[in-house]
Amino acid sequence: MGRDFSNRWPLAVGLVAAAFVGISVVTQFGDAGVAHAQLSCETPPIDVSGLVRVWDKTDFCQSQDSVFEEIISGGVPRDGIPPIDNPTFESIADASTWLQPQSPVVTFELNGTARAYPLAILTRHEIVNDVVDDVPVAVTFCPLCNSAIVFERTVDSQVYRFGVSGLLRNSDLIMWDDVTQSWWQQFTGEGIVGTHTGTMLTILPSQVVGFGAFVQQYPEGEVLSRNGRSYSSNPYVGYDSAPFPFLFNGELDDRLLPTDRVLAGLIGGAAVAYPFPVLAEAVVINDTVGEHAVAAFWQPGATSALDRSSIDDSRDVGMAALFNRDLNGRVLTFVADESGVIRDEQTGSLWNVFGTATDGELAGSQLHQELAFPHFWFAWAAFRPETRIYEPPTAGETGAIEGDPANGQVLFNTFQAEANFACATCHYVDKEDQLIGPGLLNVSARAVERVAGLDAYDYIHTSIVDPGAFVVPNYPDNLMPRNWAQIYSDQQIADLIAYLFTLQ
Ligand code: HEC
Repeated sequence: MGRDFSNRWPLAVGLVAAAFVGISVVTQFGDAGVAHAQLSCETPPIDVSGLVRVWDKTDFCQSQDSVFEEIISGGVPRDGIPPIDNPTFESIADASTWLQPQSPVVTFELNGTARAYPLAILTRHEIVNDVVDDVPVAVTFCPLCNSAIVFERTVDSQVYRFGVSGLLRNSDLIMWDDVTQSWWQQFTGEGIVGTHTGTMLTILPSQVVGFGAFVQQYPEGEVLSRNGRSYSSNPYVGYDSAPFPFLFNGELDDRLLPTDRVLAGLIGGAAVAYPFPVLAEAVVINDTVGEHAVAAFWQPGATSALDRSSIDDSRDVGMAALFNRDLNGRVLTFVADESGVIRDEQTGSLWNVFGTATDGELAGSQLHQELAFPHFWFAWAAFRPETRIYEPPTAGETGAIEGDPANGQVLFNTFQAEANFACATCHYVDKEDQLIGPGLLNVSARAVERVAGLDAYDYIHTSIVDPGAFVVPNYPDNLMPRNWAQIYSDQQIADLIAYLFTLQ
């Protein structure tokens, strides 16, 4: 591939040599200095003599198990990548002199104050210690993992300033706080070394979008100022098409390519990842994670910050975010038309990538954003190896599973204790009349007409696994049991559908 890392700034000379040799490289900070360390034990798990000169407040006696084996030096000293501590902001008009609509920015909104932090700036500073509407927050970006995450800076009612330790774990930025000098994993927000081992920072919702999308959503928004510096060249040229992630010495999970982007998060404790190529193809994904009905939205118009030397001329990777589909107790399902316009099926209202309804009956409504962010696959998989990868429903919903109508007929007439019914309890199969639910004679012909954009198979499939999604006019929506997808396997549901197709 012939990638050239030599012109990388701020990764210093010697970086590659420093990698992969474990924590001992940290002794770059000098030989055994005067030990000022605040140690709560006699013998910490590692030799700290070379560390305590710089980390004079870090309690090395407290750490996550075997974490030191996974920490390597990024080749730069503490805050050698300098965080921005007193950020200043400019208007959209001023920012438009250097940002393009496709320039990627982290957006963060709190109580009406909306701010954009261009990735061009964040790749060079990684952390912005900001205060938004009186709330101290750290806007962070780890270029090596492509992870942009906003944290609250208040821990146990004390406000911390976060810095860049110069250390990496699974390629990910390790932050430090200025009070306890604990080490914090940016990817998860968890304290890994020091007094705060095990403490979780509060993650706040944010998105990475194109500057143009930010402007449309927040015309009064503010943009992080360059303060006279130039941020035109990208230190990470070619990084996101590299076959192997730089400075990563963990295990690669080959379910996807290492630098594939995924929209990934923990939803009710369950790790889930939506690959960007799947998102770009589908535009919307309606999914259920545990008890949570969620929808992922994708839109083009944001370039990669880790591709060409000019970020604005890099390839468009698009923007994506995950939302809860439950709007005030009503679970919505979303569809996108050919041109990528997103609507909910219940009211036909239009939605944008910020989860805001922009037109129609629900105009002005806002979906609750889930804490899922665009990351590189290798890093997500390293921190959440148990993650599920979302797969487009080729199997159940497009009929790729061959259904057996004879078995479907048996299942249709089988009483299921978990549902307290058989399908046949509520549905005639030889007429269209109502029993409790509608008669299912000729259902496949009627199904095509029911919901624009859904074919008969998909409509019937959804009617069975998610009966609340579309309710047949003049029928109550709470009668049909909701747990068929738990009772029946994908194959059995395909069998049921195959049987219903024979009812004509
Ligand atoms: C307790 C009663 C009940 C049971 C049991 C039941 N359904 Fe239903 N079903 C309904 C009702 C009521 C509706 C109409 C309201 C709605 O759309 O949710 C409906 C709607 C449907 C529809 C949409 C029909 C149309 O004309 O659009 C299909 C298909 C369907 N059910 C299939 C099944 C299958 C297959 C089973 C068994 C796995 C089943 N139902 C079990 C009550 C039931």
